[in-house]
Amino acid sequence: MSDPKSPSERAAPAVTEAEAARAIAEAARSLAGLAASTLVSVDIASMTPYTPGRPWRLLAEELQIPENDLCLLAANENVLGPSKLGIEAAQRALEEVNLYPDGGSILLREALAARHGVTPDHISVGNGSNEIIELLVRTFVGPGETVVTAWPSFVVYRLVTQAAGREILIAPLRDDRYDLSALAALVDQRTKIVFIANPNNPTGTYVPKRQLAAFLDRIPRSVIVVLDEAYHEYAVAEDYPDGVRDFRAHPRLVVLRTFSKAFGLAGLRIGYGGMDPSLVRFLDCVRQPYNTSTVAQAAALAALDDESHLRTSVRMVREGMTHLTQRFEALGLEVVPSQANFLLVKIGRPAAPLVQAMRARGVLVRDMRGYDLPDTIRMTVGTRAQNLVAAELIEELLA
Ligand SMILES: Cc1ncc(COP(=O)(O)O)c(C=O)c1O
Repeated sequence: MSDPKSPSERAAPAVTEAEAARAIAEAARSLAGLAASTLVSVDIASMTPYTPGRPWRLLAEELQIPENDLCLLAANENVLGPSKLGIEAAQRALEEVNLYPDGGSILLREALAARHGVTPDHISVGNGSNEIIELLVRTFVGPGETVVTAWPSFVVYRLVTQAAGREILIAPLRDDRYDLSALAALVDQRTKIVFIANPNNPTGTYVPKRQLAAFLDRIPRSVIVVLDEAYHEYAVAEDYPDGVRDFRAHPRLVVLRTFSKAFGLAGLRIGYGGMDPSLVRFLDCVRQPYNTSTVAQAAALAALDDESHLRTSVRMVREGMTHLTQRFEALGLEVVPSQANFLLVKIGRPAAPLVQAMRARGVLVRDMRGYDLPDTIRMTVGTRAQNLVAAELIEELLA
């Protein structure tokens, strides 16, 4: 019997379903690109700007609530305020702001390196850890390469990847946790970076050390794995890994930390990444020469030594978390166990009206519709007094 296929058809290599789907997606993207305005790329044209919260002073004025009575529990900041040592150092540094900052953040990197038992060339300092996330994508993810992460997770991974015109592949969370098998299944020869928020924002859940070690063993060493440990200082679970200490031997592991959370310096925008010096060097080529300010560097350096502020902040969060969890569970609400400084609470119905009603009374929690979690709220653990106000208000509004 004659073969009905032409010789070229017979020789064609098998195309997997995933490859076919990718080819279709790429064709669609380039067609959309042709149709898009010439002002920006199709990736940027399809984005919506990140919506920042209303400035709290304006809000207090609008709501006619004294500024000090507002409970700002929407952005996972340190509700105890900044470290006093940090403020004093920042004030002193203001005297020098006629001069450019130290573009190499030398003193801060030395202090961080000593703390982590590495040399300063392992540390890259950024305008918040957000900047390092962006720099990693811009520096290392080339055309045709991809980023892999989970969802719901920190939204900035997606935003910076899209803005850079690169593709992001998303593994859904399973039971509110990173599903490392699903994440590993998305990794292929095109993958350049995997982002893992540990603990995760917005769930507060974490990837335990053994699971993370097994995941790293499965992933090709050519892939950069970014452990975003923005909430590291709050995590107390015994099997919670310290990325810097536990996975030192991994050549492509990047560990991100920030001064925005437990150290209370969110407004100064300073964070850092620990990684192999070869990676730091490439980030140095791409970043702005003076990406962090004199004031931020000085405050961060001083805050690092403020052990007492850090201890008090962490203790307050752990105690408040226990209190709030009990109160919410008594209302029949499901609370996701958290290792961070916030709680994800499942309301069991659309939560936006509750968020709005709380806002009107001066208690700000996070509306989670943007994270595709419309039936939940995310609430920063506040001071004892703030927690009481928030819990009583929720009890009243849900009654
Ligand atoms: C998981 C995660 N990573 C990074 C950041 C960014 O922190 P930074 O203020 O250092 O840019 C946040 C802030 O909310 C976060 O939740």
